[in-house]
Amino acid sequence: MRTVSDAQSLRAAVRAWKQEGKIVGFVPTLGNLHAGHYSLLDIARKRADRVVVSVFVNPTQFAAGEDFEKYPRTLEQDSAGLAERECDLLFAPEVETIYPFGAENSIRIHVPRITETLEGAHRPGHFDGVATVVAKLFALVAPDLAVFGQKDWQQLLVVKRLVRELAFPIEIIAAPTVREENGLALSSRNQYLNESERALAPQIHATLQWMREAILDGHPREAVETAAAHRLERAGFAPDHAAVRRAEDLSIPPDGEREGLIALIAAKLGSTRLIDNLVFDFDRP
Ligand code: PAF
Repeated sequence: MRTVSDAQSLRAAVRAWKQEGKIVGFVPTLGNLHAGHYSLLDIARKRADRVVVSVFVNPTQFAAGEDFEKYPRTLEQDSAGLAERECDLLFAPEVETIYPFGAENSIRIHVPRITETLEGAHRPGHFDGVATVVAKLFALVAPDLAVFGQKDWQQLLVVKRLVRELAFPIEIIAAPTVREENGLALSSRNQYLNESERALAPQIHATLQWMREAILDGHPREAVETAAAHRLERAGFAPDHAAVRRAEDLSIPPDGEREGLIALIAAKLGSTRLIDNLVFDFDRP
């Protein structure tokens, strides 16, 4: 595996592969890689001849007071894990490579509507930062396909919209969420949980499953959302949302609609904020 941090070496490597007719896959990450990230790499490997993984803690997607400074930077460990799993190229740029005029002076890409609800409402500017960095990474890497995890469902929708509107010739592949046996979705933030919080954290997945059954049993959406939030509070969480939406655009479904839905939860456990979701159609047990 090669590691590069500058745009020129990255471009030269990708150009050479493309001249040989290779399909290039891409997995963008914030680093601090775990089995969830490696599953994205495995999917990219199956679909592409060469795979680029980026590790970049993107400052513009963290709001003031979020964990940008604290976000674990583990490049050596990430690099060893990627090499073991046959990643072809690790792109680990400095902030100046991605933001030549500084992060604060960067252009911003705003994807309207879909970013104004749920995570977007709670983290203003977050999805502008995500859309901006993903567009920049796509322009630099120029892959044929890119893999994103379904755990960040709203992000996945933002990226799909970005690709369509900016006409990037890149196929976006959605990867299933990797879970511990107890249902807890893998996340870099799980490592902030203490022992008793870890024991409680699987309640998020259990509550998502309960929400799905309640909706499919015909209970009204708002009542299900309220009951789910109470259930989380009783278990010791501070929920930001427990919502049922249409999976394709996060719009609010009328009561009685049962197809194409998703349940999404964001909740704080101690000082750690966890998110997860369940797409009703393809996450059925
Ligand atoms: O999901 C992530 O890890 C990040 O939001 C991404 C897509 C790498 C952009 O920084």
